[in-house]
Amino acid sequence: MSNCKIPKHVAIIMDGNGRWAKRKGLPRSAGHVQGGKVVEQILEDARDLGIRYLTVYAFSTENWSRPQDEVKALMKLLREYMRTSIKKCMKNNVRTRVIGDRTKLDKDIIEAIEKLEDATKENTGVQFTIAINYGARDEIRRAVEAIAGEVAAKELAASEVTEEVINDHLDTRELPDPDLLIRTCGEQRISNFLLWQCAYTEFYYTDKAWPDFDKAELQKALDAYADRDRRYGKV
Ligand code: IPE
Ligand code: IPE
Ligand code: MG
Repeated sequence: MSNCKIPKHVAIIMDGNGRWAKRKGLPRSAGHVQGGKVVEQILEDARDLGIRYLTVYAFSTENWSRPQDEVKALMKLLREYMRTSIKKCMKNNVRTRVIGDRTKLDKDIIEAIEKLEDATKENTGVQFTIAINYGARDEIRRAVEAIAGEVAAKELAASEVTEEVINDHLDTRELPDPDLLIRTCGEQRISNFLLWQCAYTEFYYTDKAWPDFDKAELQKALDAYADRDRRYGKV
């Protein structure tokens, strides 16, 4: 497969942790634990396959409405991940960023995120982004609020609000748009993920639940992507 057909930025809606656990007679939280391990492995596989940017959806703005004990278990995992992944990121030259409205998270998680982002900010390997308390509508709303503030302060004219200005106010301002979006476990919807950024992204769905996702599955998604004819409105 030629190199130019490898997507530069792959985004993943990691779905099916709960169903995977249920099938095994385990609590949903066990699915999230296994899902977390798969994230770490896929990050290494992505590097081996030549992917430059990897973005994963870990917790949506809608996920707060899950049972409180599940939300707690997810936050515990995210807290642990932020604390323990620094070492591995430094070893593998991974830069990690977090997108979403982190102000709603517990203070110690916010601090752990800041520490991880800061420690890895010079790393030039895979650019890894985790979406936590992320919702695309909320992201766009926050961008509009910031832009409206600049217009009100006369730092910017309304007519100067270009697509580029909007892009520069999104959480993803430092990232290219995703080339490929993968969703696991059979669902074929976007669930409020990267709505602006996916304007021209190729979608790939698989029935595999996230805890069963592996390098071979990722390779299948890349193969499907390589066969697509991306047109961007041209003929
Ligand atoms: C994805 O798995 C993980 C998160 C949304 C945090 P789910 O928890 O949505 O698993 P299903 O869809 O219920 O199987
Ligand atoms: C999307 O999965 C959010 C994450 C993967 C974090 P959900 O399982 O929450 O989405 P819906 O509810 O099926 O749309
Ligand atoms: Mg789900």
